[in-house]
Amino acid sequence: MTRPIETRHQAAKTVFAPAGQTHVFTFWSELTQNQKEQLLDDLERIDVEQLPHWRQLVAGAGPERIASDKIEPATVISRSSISEDIIDHGRSILAAGKVAALTVAGGQGTRLGFDGPKGAFPISPVKRKTLFQLFAEAILATERRYETRIPWYVMTSPSNDEQTQAFFSERRFFGLSPHRVRFFQQGVMPSFDPAGRILLEEKHRVALSPDGHGGTLLAMAKTGTLADMTARGIEHISYFQVDNPLVTCLDPLFIGLHAQRNADMSSKAVPKADDLECVGNFVVKNGRPAIIEYSNLLDEFAHARNEDGTRKFDAANIAIHILSRRFVERLTADRTAFALPWHLAKKKVPHVDLDTGERVDPAEPNALKLESFIFDALPLADHSVLLETSRADEFSPVKNMTGIDSVETSRRDQNRRAAQWLETAGLAIPRDEQDEPKGMFEISPLAALDAVHLKERLGSESVRLPEAEKDFYLGD
Ligand code: UTP
Repeated sequence: MTRPIETRHQAAKTVFAPAGQTHVFTFWSELTQNQKEQLLDDLERIDVEQLPHWRQLVAGAGPERIASDKIEPATVISRSSISEDIIDHGRSILAAGKVAALTVAGGQGTRLGFDGPKGAFPISPVKRKTLFQLFAEAILATERRYETRIPWYVMTSPSNDEQTQAFFSERRFFGLSPHRVRFFQQGVMPSFDPAGRILLEEKHRVALSPDGHGGTLLAMAKTGTLADMTARGIEHISYFQVDNPLVTCLDPLFIGLHAQRNADMSSKAVPKADDLECVGNFVVKNGRPAIIEYSNLLDEFAHARNEDGTRKFDAANIAIHILSRRFVERLTADRTAFALPWHLAKKKVPHVDLDTGERVDPAEPNALKLESFIFDALPLADHSVLLETSRADEFSPVKNMTGIDSVETSRRDQNRRAAQWLETAGLAIPRDEQDEPKGMFEISPLAALDAVHLKERLGSESVRLPEAEKDFYLGD
Protein backbone atom coordinates (compact mmCIF):
# COMPACT_ATOMS: atom_id res chain seq x y z
CA MET A 1 0.00 0.00 0.00
CA THR A 2 1.35 3.45 -0.87
CA ARG A 3 1.77 5.80 2.05
CA PRO A 4 -0.06 9.15 2.05
CA ILE A 5 2.04 12.06 0.83
CA GLU A 6 1.87 13.97 4.10
CA THR A 7 3.18 10.98 6.06
CA ARG A 8 6.05 10.66 3.64
CA HIS A 9 6.70 14.41 3.78
CA GLN A 10 6.87 14.39 7.57
CA ALA A 11 9.15 11.36 7.57
CA ALA A 12 11.47 13.01 5.04
CA LYS A 13 11.57 16.24 7.03
CA THR A 14 12.62 14.43 10.19
CA VAL A 15 15.69 13.04 8.46
CA PHE A 16 16.63 15.88 6.11
CA ALA A 17 16.21 18.72 8.62
CA PRO A 18 18.79 17.51 11.18
CA ALA A 19 21.17 16.90 8.29
CA GLY A 20 20.93 20.62 7.41
CA GLN A 21 19.00 19.96 4.19
CA THR A 22 15.59 21.57 4.91
CA HIS A 23 15.97 23.68 1.75
CA VAL A 24 14.99 20.68 -0.39
CA PHE A 25 11.39 21.58 0.56
CA THR A 26 11.73 25.27 -0.39
CA PHE A 27 9.12 25.02 -3.15
CA TRP A 28 6.89 22.39 -1.50
CA SER A 29 3.80 24.61 -1.29
CA GLU A 30 3.98 25.37 -5.06
CA LEU A 31 4.15 21.74 -6.15
CA THR A 32 1.33 19.66 -7.60
CA GLN A 33 0.51 16.32 -5.97
CA ASN A 34 2.39 14.55 -8.69
CA GLN A 35 5.44 16.74 -8.26
CA LYS A 36 5.39 16.25 -4.50
CA GLU A 37 5.46 12.52 -5.08
CA GLN A 38 8.38 12.86 -7.47
CA LEU A 39 10.34 14.93 -4.98
CA LEU A 40 9.69 12.40 -2.23
CA ASP A 41 10.65 9.54 -4.56
CA ASP A 42 13.99 11.25 -5.20
CA LEU A 43 14.60 11.96 -1.53
CA GLU A 44 13.76 8.41 -0.51
CA ARG A 45 16.45 7.14 -2.87
CA ILE A 46 19.14 8.93 -0.89
CA ASP A 47 21.00 6.99 1.78
CA VAL A 48 20.23 9.54 4.51
CA GLU A 49 22.42 7.90 7.10
CA GLN A 50 25.41 8.86 4.98
CA LEU A 51 24.37 12.51 4.61
CA PRO A 52 26.45 13.94 7.48
CA HIS A 53 29.52 12.07 6.22
CA TRP A 54 29.03 13.29 2.64
CA ARG A 55 28.51 16.83 3.83
CA GLN A 56 31.80 16.71 5.71
CA LEU A 57 33.59 15.37 2.66
CA VAL A 58 32.16 18.06 0.43
CA ALA A 59 32.84 20.86 2.88
CA GLY A 60 36.43 19.70 3.33
CA ALA A 61 37.04 19.41 -0.42
CA GLY A 62 40.42 20.85 -1.23
CA PRO A 63 42.78 20.30 -4.13
CA GLU A 64 43.28 16.61 -4.97
CA ARG A 65 45.60 14.88 -2.58
CA ILE A 66 48.71 13.58 -4.23
CA ALA A 67 49.65 10.16 -2.96
CA SER A 68 52.93 10.36 -1.12
CA ASP A 69 52.50 6.94 0.50
CA LYS A 70 55.19 4.39 0.06
CA ILE A 71 54.39 2.69 -3.20
CA GLU A 72 56.03 -0.06 -5.18
CA PRO A 73 55.27 -1.31 -8.68
CA ALA A 74 52.76 -4.14 -8.82
CA THR A 75 53.87 -7.56 -10.03
CA VAL A 76 52.42 -8.27 -13.43
CA ILE A 77 52.07 -11.73 -14.95
CA SER A 78 52.46 -11.97 -18.70
CA ARG A 79 50.03 -13.99 -20.82
CA SER A 80 52.88 -15.84 -22.48
CA SER A 81 54.01 -17.29 -19.13
CA ILE A 82 50.67 -19.01 -18.54
CA SER A 83 50.66 -22.77 -19.06
CA GLU A 84 48.11 -24.64 -21.15
CA ASP A 85 46.97 -26.39 -17.92
CA ILE A 86 45.74 -23.11 -16.49
CA ILE A 87 43.89 -22.23 -19.68
CA ASP A 88 42.29 -25.68 -19.63
CA HIS A 89 41.28 -25.06 -16.03
CA GLY A 90 39.55 -21.85 -17.14
CA ARG A 91 37.80 -23.71 -19.96
CA SER A 92 36.51 -26.32 -17.57
CA ILE A 93 35.19 -23.65 -15.17
CA LEU A 94 33.36 -22.05 -18.08
CA ALA A 95 32.02 -25.41 -19.22
CA ALA A 96 30.79 -26.11 -15.69
CA GLY A 97 28.66 -22.94 -15.81
CA LYS A 98 30.44 -21.24 -12.92
CA VAL A 99 31.12 -17.92 -14.64
CA ALA A 100 28.84 -14.93 -15.20
CA ALA A 101 29.46 -11.85 -17.31
CA LEU A 102 28.79 -8.49 -15.70
CA THR A 103 28.67 -5.24 -17.67
CA VAL A 104 28.54 -1.89 -15.94
CA ALA A 105 26.34 0.32 -18.06
CA GLY A 106 24.97 2.81 -15.57
CA GLY A 107 27.22 5.74 -16.50
CA GLN A 108 25.89 8.96 -17.97
CA GLY A 109 28.13 8.95 -21.04
CA THR A 110 28.34 12.75 -20.89
CA ARG A 111 31.45 12.97 -23.04
CA LEU A 112 29.99 10.86 -25.83
CA GLY A 113 26.77 12.85 -25.81
CA PHE A 114 24.78 10.05 -27.45
CA ASP A 115 21.00 10.14 -27.08
CA GLY A 116 20.41 6.75 -25.47
CA PRO A 117 22.26 4.23 -23.33
CA LYS A 118 25.91 4.01 -24.36
CA GLY A 119 25.58 0.29 -25.01
CA ALA A 120 23.14 1.09 -27.82
CA PHE A 121 25.80 3.06 -29.70
CA PRO A 122 26.58 1.54 -33.14
CA ILE A 123 30.31 0.97 -32.90
CA SER A 124 31.55 -1.89 -35.08
CA PRO A 125 33.53 -0.83 -38.14
CA VAL A 126 31.54 -2.54 -40.92
CA LYS A 127 28.12 -3.61 -39.66
CA ARG A 128 27.77 -0.83 -37.10
CA LYS A 129 26.75 -3.32 -34.46
CA THR A 130 26.03 -1.81 -31.08
CA LEU A 131 28.24 -2.38 -28.06
CA PHE A 132 25.54 -4.50 -26.42
CA GLN A 133 25.26 -6.67 -29.54
CA LEU A 134 29.00 -7.30 -29.68
CA PHE A 135 29.02 -8.45 -26.04
CA ALA A 136 25.89 -10.54 -26.54
CA GLU A 137 27.47 -12.30 -29.54
CA ALA A 138 30.64 -12.97 -27.57
CA ILE A 139 28.62 -14.46 -24.70
CA LEU A 140 26.54 -16.56 -27.08
CA ALA A 141 29.65 -17.76 -28.91
CA THR A 142 31.25 -18.72 -25.59
CA GLU A 143 28.11 -20.62 -24.57
CA ARG A 144 28.25 -22.54 -27.84
CA ARG A 145 31.97 -23.18 -27.67
CA TYR A 146 31.93 -24.62 -24.16
CA GLU A 147 28.40 -26.04 -24.34
CA THR A 148 27.48 -24.09 -21.27
CA ARG A 149 25.21 -21.39 -19.86
CA ILE A 150 26.49 -17.95 -19.08
CA PRO A 151 24.24 -15.52 -17.27
CA TRP A 152 24.77 -11.89 -18.19
CA TYR A 153 24.17 -9.19 -15.56
CA VAL A 154 23.85 -5.64 -16.83
CA MET A 155 24.05 -2.81 -14.33
CA THR A 156 21.97 0.20 -15.28
CA SER A 157 21.06 3.42 -13.46
CA PRO A 158 17.59 4.71 -12.60
CA SER A 159 17.87 7.11 -15.56
CA ASN A 160 18.77 4.58 -18.25
CA ASP A 161 17.28 1.34 -16.96
CA GLU A 162 13.99 1.50 -18.85
CA GLN A 163 15.63 2.46 -22.14
CA THR A 164 18.28 -0.22 -21.75
CA GLN A 165 15.76 -2.96 -21.05
CA ALA A 166 13.57 -1.78 -23.94
CA PHE A 167 16.58 -1.93 -26.26
CA PHE A 168 17.28 -5.54 -25.33
CA SER A 169 13.62 -6.48 -25.78
CA GLU A 170 13.37 -4.79 -29.19
CA ARG A 171 16.47 -6.66 -30.32
CA ARG A 172 15.17 -9.92 -28.86
CA PHE A 173 18.12 -10.14 -26.54
CA PHE A 174 20.42 -10.54 -29.56
CA GLY A 175 19.73 -14.27 -29.64
CA LEU A 176 20.53 -14.88 -25.97
CA SER A 177 18.08 -16.61 -23.70
CA PRO A 178 16.19 -13.75 -21.92
CA HIS A 179 16.20 -15.88 -18.75
CA ARG A 180 19.92 -15.54 -18.57
CA VAL A 181 20.03 -11.76 -18.94
CA ARG A 182 19.35 -9.81 -15.77
CA PHE A 183 19.36 -6.08 -15.21
CA PHE A 184 19.98 -4.44 -11.89
CA GLN A 185 20.05 -0.80 -10.93
CA GLN A 186 22.84 0.96 -9.15
CA GLY A 187 22.37 3.58 -6.45
CA VAL A 188 22.30 7.33 -6.88
CA MET A 189 24.04 10.23 -5.19
CA PRO A 190 22.90 13.82 -4.88
CA SER A 191 25.08 16.66 -6.14
CA PHE A 192 26.08 19.27 -3.58
CA ASP A 193 26.93 22.96 -3.63
CA PRO A 194 30.29 23.86 -2.06
CA ALA A 195 28.57 24.40 1.31
CA GLY A 196 27.37 20.81 1.29
CA ARG A 197 23.73 21.52 0.43
CA ILE A 198 21.91 19.15 -1.89
CA LEU A 199 21.14 20.77 -5.25
CA LEU A 200 17.67 20.73 -6.76
CA GLU A 201 17.60 20.08 -10.48
CA GLU A 202 14.03 21.35 -10.62
CA LYS A 203 11.75 22.60 -7.90
CA HIS A 204 10.48 19.06 -7.48
CA ARG A 205 13.54 17.07 -8.51
CA VAL A 206 16.81 16.44 -6.70
CA ALA A 207 19.98 16.63 -8.80
CA LEU A 208 20.82 12.93 -8.65
CA SER A 209 23.40 10.97 -10.58
CA PRO A 210 24.69 7.38 -10.49
CA ASP A 211 27.02 6.63 -7.60
CA GLY A 212 29.96 5.41 -9.71
CA HIS A 213 30.95 1.91 -10.85
CA GLY A 214 32.02 1.20 -7.27
CA GLY A 215 28.28 1.13 -6.61
CA THR A 216 28.19 -2.24 -8.39
CA LEU A 217 29.08 -4.16 -5.24
CA LEU A 218 26.35 -2.83 -2.97
CA ALA A 219 23.84 -2.86 -5.82
CA MET A 220 24.57 -6.56 -6.38
CA ALA A 221 23.77 -7.25 -2.75
CA LYS A 222 20.73 -4.99 -2.48
CA THR A 223 19.02 -6.05 -5.70
CA GLY A 224 19.28 -9.79 -5.15
CA THR A 225 21.84 -10.15 -7.93
CA LEU A 226 24.29 -11.95 -5.65
CA ALA A 227 21.55 -14.30 -4.48
CA ASP A 228 20.62 -14.97 -8.10
CA MET A 229 24.25 -15.80 -8.85
CA THR A 230 24.37 -18.21 -5.93
CA ALA A 231 21.19 -19.90 -7.11
CA ARG A 232 22.74 -20.38 -10.55
CA GLY A 233 25.99 -21.79 -9.16
CA ILE A 234 28.10 -18.81 -10.24
CA GLU A 235 31.51 -18.54 -8.56
CA HIS A 236 33.37 -16.05 -10.74
CA ILE A 237 32.17 -12.74 -12.15
CA SER A 238 33.77 -11.47 -15.33
CA TYR A 239 33.44 -7.69 -15.01
CA PHE A 240 33.82 -5.22 -17.89
CA GLN A 241 32.67 -1.77 -18.89
CA VAL A 242 30.10 -1.05 -21.55
CA ASP A 243 32.42 1.17 -23.55
CA ASN A 244 35.22 -1.23 -24.56
CA PRO A 245 34.27 -3.21 -27.70
CA LEU A 246 37.62 -5.02 -27.73
CA VAL A 247 37.14 -6.69 -24.35
CA THR A 248 37.34 -10.47 -24.20
CA CYS A 249 34.12 -10.90 -22.25
CA LEU A 250 35.00 -14.38 -20.97
CA ASP A 251 38.69 -15.18 -21.14
CA PRO A 252 39.54 -18.80 -20.19
CA LEU A 253 43.17 -17.90 -19.48
CA PHE A 254 42.21 -15.07 -17.11
CA ILE A 255 39.52 -17.17 -15.44
CA GLY A 256 41.87 -20.13 -15.04
CA LEU A 257 44.60 -17.98 -13.51
CA HIS A 258 42.19 -16.23 -11.15
CA ALA A 259 40.79 -19.55 -9.95
CA GLN A 260 44.13 -21.31 -9.68
CA ARG A 261 45.48 -18.49 -7.48
CA ASN A 262 42.32 -18.51 -5.38
CA ALA A 263 42.03 -14.79 -6.05
CA ASP A 264 39.31 -12.53 -4.68
CA MET A 265 39.76 -9.95 -7.39
CA SER A 266 41.90 -10.11 -10.50
CA SER A 267 42.66 -7.40 -13.02
CA LYS A 268 44.10 -6.95 -16.47
CA ALA A 269 46.70 -4.30 -17.16
CA VAL A 270 48.42 -2.95 -20.25
CA PRO A 271 51.78 -1.15 -20.46
CA LYS A 272 51.30 2.60 -20.28
CA ALA A 273 51.44 4.59 -23.52
CA ASP A 274 53.51 7.31 -21.82
CA ASP A 275 54.56 8.37 -18.32
CA LEU A 276 51.63 10.72 -17.81
CA GLU A 277 48.90 8.76 -19.58
CA CYS A 278 45.48 9.49 -18.04
CA VAL A 279 44.93 6.03 -16.58
CA GLY A 280 44.95 4.42 -13.16
CA ASN A 281 48.28 2.87 -12.14
CA PHE A 282 48.49 -0.53 -10.48
CA VAL A 283 50.81 -0.29 -7.48
CA VAL A 284 51.45 -1.92 -4.16
CA LYS A 285 50.63 0.62 -1.47
CA ASN A 286 51.50 -0.12 2.13
CA GLY A 287 51.81 -3.76 1.21
CA ARG A 288 48.36 -4.02 -0.46
CA PRO A 289 47.47 -3.96 -4.15
CA ALA A 290 45.91 -0.66 -5.18
CA ILE A 291 45.27 1.66 -8.08
CA ILE A 292 46.41 5.25 -8.02
CA GLU A 293 44.75 7.61 -10.46
CA TYR A 294 47.11 9.50 -12.81
CA SER A 295 46.16 12.78 -11.16
CA ASN A 296 47.25 11.45 -7.76
CA LEU A 297 50.54 9.92 -8.84
CA LEU A 298 53.57 12.03 -7.92
CA ASP A 299 55.72 13.00 -10.90
CA GLU A 300 58.75 11.29 -9.39
CA PHE A 301 56.82 8.00 -9.57
CA ALA A 302 55.29 8.67 -12.97
CA HIS A 303 58.75 9.26 -14.49
CA ALA A 304 60.64 6.65 -12.43
CA ARG A 305 62.78 4.16 -14.35
CA ASN A 306 64.17 0.73 -13.63
CA GLU A 307 67.89 0.09 -14.00
CA ASP A 308 67.39 -1.11 -17.55
CA GLY A 309 65.61 2.13 -18.47
CA THR A 310 62.11 0.72 -18.62
CA ARG A 311 59.23 2.52 -16.90
CA LYS A 312 58.91 1.55 -13.24
CA PHE A 313 55.18 2.17 -12.80
CA ASP A 314 54.00 0.81 -16.10
CA ALA A 315 50.80 -1.14 -15.41
CA ALA A 316 47.72 0.75 -16.60
CA ASN A 317 44.22 -0.13 -15.46
CA ILE A 318 41.83 -1.07 -18.29
CA ALA A 319 38.85 -1.81 -16.01
CA ILE A 320 38.65 -5.53 -16.72
CA HIS A 321 38.37 -7.63 -13.59
CA ILE A 322 37.25 -10.96 -12.26
CA LEU A 323 35.56 -10.86 -8.88
CA SER A 324 34.90 -13.95 -6.92
CA ARG A 325 31.28 -14.08 -5.78
CA ARG A 326 32.33 -14.96 -2.26
CA PHE A 327 34.52 -11.85 -2.09
CA VAL A 328 31.58 -9.60 -2.99
CA GLU A 329 29.44 -11.44 -0.45
CA ARG A 330 32.05 -10.94 2.23
CA LEU A 331 32.41 -7.22 1.50
CA THR A 332 28.69 -6.54 1.45
CA ALA A 333 27.64 -8.87 4.28
CA ASP A 334 27.00 -5.82 6.44
CA ARG A 335 25.35 -3.49 3.96
CA THR A 336 25.17 -0.53 6.28
CA ALA A 337 28.84 -0.73 7.22
CA PHE A 338 30.31 -1.37 3.76
CA ALA A 339 31.49 1.60 1.74
CA LEU A 340 34.24 2.16 -0.76
CA PRO A 341 36.00 5.53 -0.51
CA TRP A 342 34.23 8.45 -2.17
CA HIS A 343 35.99 10.43 -4.87
CA LEU A 344 35.00 14.05 -5.32
CA ALA A 345 34.68 15.71 -8.70
CA LYS A 346 33.77 19.31 -9.52
CA LYS A 347 31.13 19.33 -12.25
CA LYS A 348 28.70 21.68 -13.94
CA VAL A 349 25.28 20.80 -12.58
CA PRO A 350 22.19 22.73 -13.71
CA HIS A 351 20.04 23.59 -10.71
CA VAL A 352 17.31 25.82 -9.35
CA ASP A 353 18.29 29.00 -7.51
CA LEU A 354 16.60 28.76 -4.11
CA ASP A 355 15.98 32.52 -3.86
CA THR A 356 14.58 33.21 -7.32
CA GLY A 357 13.29 29.78 -8.28
CA GLU A 358 15.02 30.29 -11.64
CA ARG A 359 17.00 27.53 -13.32
CA VAL A 360 20.76 28.14 -13.52
CA ASP A 361 22.89 26.59 -16.26
CA PRO A 362 26.40 27.13 -14.92
CA ALA A 363 29.23 27.96 -17.32
CA GLU A 364 31.81 26.79 -14.80
CA PRO A 365 31.84 23.79 -12.43
CA ASN A 366 29.57 24.76 -9.53
CA ALA A 367 28.87 21.48 -7.82
CA LEU A 368 30.52 18.55 -6.15
CA LYS A 369 29.71 15.00 -7.08
CA LEU A 370 30.73 11.94 -5.14
CA GLU A 371 31.48 8.66 -6.89
CA SER A 372 33.00 5.38 -5.83
CA PHE A 373 35.21 3.23 -8.05
CA ILE A 374 35.26 -0.55 -8.33
CA PHE A 375 39.05 -0.68 -8.20
CA ASP A 376 38.99 0.57 -4.62
CA ALA A 377 37.89 -2.95 -3.71
CA LEU A 378 41.36 -4.19 -4.71
CA PRO A 379 43.12 -3.42 -1.40
CA LEU A 380 40.36 -5.38 0.34
CA ALA A 381 41.25 -8.55 -1.53
CA ASP A 382 43.30 -11.14 0.32
CA HIS A 383 44.56 -12.58 -2.95
CA SER A 384 44.68 -10.85 -6.29
CA VAL A 385 46.22 -11.42 -9.68
CA LEU A 386 47.40 -8.86 -12.21
CA LEU A 387 47.60 -10.13 -15.77
CA GLU A 388 49.32 -8.15 -18.50
CA THR A 389 47.58 -8.11 -21.82
CA SER A 390 47.95 -6.26 -25.09
CA ARG A 391 46.21 -2.98 -25.68
CA ALA A 392 45.77 -3.75 -29.38
CA ASP A 393 43.93 -6.94 -28.47
CA GLU A 394 41.77 -5.84 -25.58
CA PHE A 395 41.35 -2.13 -24.99
CA SER A 396 39.93 0.71 -27.01
CA PRO A 397 37.27 2.53 -25.04
CA VAL A 398 34.63 4.80 -26.52
CA LYS A 399 34.52 7.91 -24.36
CA ASN A 400 34.27 10.72 -26.92
CA MET A 401 32.85 11.21 -30.42
CA THR A 402 36.23 12.28 -31.85
CA GLY A 403 39.81 12.57 -30.65
CA ILE A 404 41.31 10.42 -27.90
CA ASP A 405 39.37 7.29 -26.88
CA SER A 406 36.66 8.03 -29.37
CA VAL A 407 34.32 6.40 -31.83
CA GLU A 408 36.99 7.02 -34.49
CA THR A 409 39.90 5.47 -32.58
CA SER A 410 37.81 2.54 -31.41
CA ARG A 411 36.63 1.65 -34.93
CA ARG A 412 40.21 1.98 -36.14
CA ASP A 413 41.42 -0.38 -33.42
CA GLN A 414 38.65 -2.92 -34.06
CA ASN A 415 39.59 -2.84 -37.73
CA ARG A 416 43.30 -3.27 -37.01
CA ARG A 417 42.62 -6.24 -34.76
CA ALA A 418 40.37 -7.98 -37.27
CA ALA A 419 42.96 -7.49 -40.01
CA GLN A 420 45.69 -8.82 -37.76
CA TRP A 421 43.63 -11.92 -36.85
CA LEU A 422 43.07 -12.61 -40.54
CA GLU A 423 46.81 -12.31 -41.16
CA THR A 424 47.49 -14.71 -38.30
CA ALA A 425 45.10 -17.09 -40.02
CA GLY A 426 47.32 -16.88 -43.11
CA LEU A 427 45.50 -14.36 -45.27
CA ALA A 428 47.25 -11.48 -46.96
CA ILE A 429 45.67 -8.16 -46.02
CA PRO A 430 46.25 -5.22 -48.33
CA ARG A 431 47.91 -2.37 -46.44
CA ASP A 432 48.67 1.27 -47.23
CA GLU A 433 51.93 3.22 -46.82
CA GLN A 434 51.23 3.76 -43.11
CA ASP A 435 50.77 0.00 -42.76
CA GLU A 436 47.06 0.45 -42.03
CA PRO A 437 44.70 -2.16 -43.49
CA LYS A 438 43.13 -0.97 -46.73
CA GLY A 439 39.39 -1.07 -46.22
CA MET A 440 37.39 -2.10 -43.19
CA PHE A 441 37.45 -5.55 -41.58
CA GLU A 442 35.06 -7.00 -39.04
CA ILE A 443 34.85 -10.47 -37.56
CA SER A 444 31.75 -11.30 -35.59
CA PRO A 445 32.44 -12.91 -32.20
CA LEU A 446 30.12 -15.63 -33.49
CA ALA A 447 32.69 -16.38 -36.21
CA ALA A 448 35.72 -16.38 -33.91
CA LEU A 449 36.53 -15.31 -30.37
CA ASP A 450 40.26 -14.87 -30.90
CA ALA A 451 43.02 -15.18 -33.49
CA VAL A 452 43.71 -18.86 -32.78
CA HIS A 453 40.03 -19.67 -32.94
CA LEU A 454 39.80 -17.89 -36.30
CA LYS A 455 42.78 -19.79 -37.65
CA GLU A 456 41.23 -23.11 -36.62
CA ARG A 457 37.95 -22.08 -38.22
CA LEU A 458 39.43 -20.84 -41.45
CA GLY A 459 41.80 -23.75 -41.75
CA SER A 460 39.42 -25.62 -43.99
CA GLU A 461 37.46 -22.72 -45.45
CA SER A 462 38.40 -20.63 -48.41
CA VAL A 463 37.79 -16.98 -47.64
CA ARG A 464 37.69 -14.40 -50.36
CA LEU A 465 39.19 -11.14 -49.25
CA PRO A 466 37.77 -7.96 -50.68
CA GLU A 467 39.50 -6.05 -53.37
CA ALA A 468 41.38 -3.14 -51.90
CA GLU A 469 39.32 -0.63 -49.92
CA LYS A 470 36.11 -2.65 -49.84
CA ASP A 471 34.56 -3.78 -46.59
CA PHE A 472 34.98 -7.32 -45.34
CA TYR A 473 32.71 -8.97 -42.79
CA LEU A 474 32.93 -12.49 -41.40
CA GLY A 475 29.72 -13.58 -39.70
CA ASP A 476 28.45 -16.70 -37.98
P1 UTP B 1 33.06 6.44 -17.20
O1 UTP B 1 33.89 6.78 -16.04
O2 UTP B 1 33.71 6.53 -18.52
O3 UTP B 1 31.76 7.35 -17.16
O4 UTP B 1 32.45 5.01 -16.98
P2 UTP B 1 30.56 7.49 -18.17
O5 UTP B 1 29.43 7.94 -17.33
O6 UTP B 1 30.33 6.28 -19.01
O7 UTP B 1 30.98 8.64 -19.16
P3 UTP B 1 31.22 10.20 -18.89
O8 UTP B 1 32.36 10.29 -17.89
O9 UTP B 1 29.93 10.77 -18.34
O10 UTP B 1 31.57 10.73 -20.23
C1 UTP B 1 33.19 3.84 -17.16
C2 UTP B 1 32.23 2.67 -17.11
O11 UTP B 1 31.58 2.61 -15.85
C3 UTP B 1 30.18 2.65 -16.01
C4 UTP B 1 29.94 3.29 -17.36
O12 UTP B 1 28.66 2.93 -17.87
C5 UTP B 1 31.10 2.73 -18.14
O13 UTP B 1 30.83 1.40 -18.53
N1 UTP B 1 29.60 3.44 -14.91
C6 UTP B 1 30.14 4.65 -14.58
C7 UTP B 1 28.52 2.94 -14.25
O14 UTP B 1 28.02 1.85 -14.56
N2 UTP B 1 28.00 3.70 -13.24
C8 UTP B 1 28.50 4.89 -12.88
O15 UTP B 1 27.96 5.51 -11.94
C9 UTP B 1 29.61 5.37 -13.56
